[in-house]
Amino acid sequence: MTRVVSGSGTDVLVIGGGVIGLGVAWRAAQRGFAVVVVDPAHGGGAAQVAAGMLAPVTELQYGEEPLLRLGMASNERYAAFTAELSELTGLDTGYRRTGTLAVALDSDDREELRELHAFQQRLGLESHWLTGRECRRLEPMLAPGVRGGLQVTGDHQVDPRRLSTALVRACERAGAQLLPAEATELLVEGDRVAGVRLSTGELLRAERIVLAAGCRSHLLPGLPEGVLPAIRPVKGQVLRLRIPRPYAPFLSRNVRAVVRGKHVYLVPRADGELVIGATTEEQGYDTTVTAGGVYELLRDAHELVPGLTELPLVETGAGLRPGSPDNAPLLGPTALPGLVAATGHYRNGVLLAPVTGDLLAEYLTTGTVPELAVPFSPSRFGTKVPA
Ligand code: GLY
Repeated sequence: MTRVVSGSGTDVLVIGGGVIGLGVAWRAAQRGFAVVVVDPAHGGGAAQVAAGMLAPVTELQYGEEPLLRLGMASNERYAAFTAELSELTGLDTGYRRTGTLAVALDSDDREELRELHAFQQRLGLESHWLTGRECRRLEPMLAPGVRGGLQVTGDHQVDPRRLSTALVRACERAGAQLLPAEATELLVEGDRVAGVRLSTGELLRAERIVLAAGCRSHLLPGLPEGVLPAIRPVKGQVLRLRIPRPYAPFLSRNVRAVVRGKHVYLVPRADGELVIGATTEEQGYDTTVTAGGVYELLRDAHELVPGLTELPLVETGAGLRPGSPDNAPLLGPTALPGLVAATGHYRNGVLLAPVTGDLLAEYLTTGTVPELAVPFSPSRFGTKVPA
């Protein structure tokens, strides 16, 4: 017999306990909602692999100005967001205001970076052109052949694993219930959502459900066809190296480059971890770490910072970025009454966690989509519930 679990007084049910779902749950619980988050492993997901570079300016793409505005808004909130988390939980999130240096290794890279710089300047963004010598003065471990670069003083970093742990604790402190179960079916009654069936066989009823299940969001059984577009998994392989104690000066800021058309970045943490990311592969839900992926990352990172081959390689991993059809997130009410989306964050899940939490909590409270979220309506793909 199906049992209805405690939590029938749930105001907001969040499906997905990654940094996005937890961020929404925390902010909603702070506003007084009775919140339940269902996930087999809260604090897991892509953030366990992500490097945590907060890079709205260095990852700027042409035609993505609304996404830039959202990213900048989230970046601006990061210091206060992490300070609040740390104060509440006593946990460090690894947020570091390091800035980022994006460098060019040959004249083609330099032209590309010059164009990016011109675009950034047209948009009034903070970014400074440096010669190769100036880049190496900032980061002496850079390859002697570096031809120039962009110093972006506002693109920082956080440790996504520490952030996830802190968000789990903050949700608990705020009174959100974290249910270790999988949502196996969305229940729809009449024209609106009514709850979910869990992997335990139990039913959890709620009138408002936030779908934050990353690249599996559109696969939830019971979700009517047409409500969400497919969210494609985009694999990223990442390496973790360790700078031996006592830490010799290695890198003091995020360093990135485009090598043979592929992005490579190095994120040095205060605790001696050096993260190298990331491949971009579209081949379904596969998270195998491949020899080729590791080889390419090491080869490209080595061109940038030759000395890193001396460091111990302590971990390899692969995560799945949730990519929407236009690579921008889906934020707010869907065509199915009661179902709210917080998914499709693609390369920016960690960056966008603070602003997503704030915007969704605001929507849940007022029933009005905040202006910043309007360009990210889940309905922009023409999705609808079939009659
Ligand atoms: N934002 C970095 C990545 O997705 O690889």
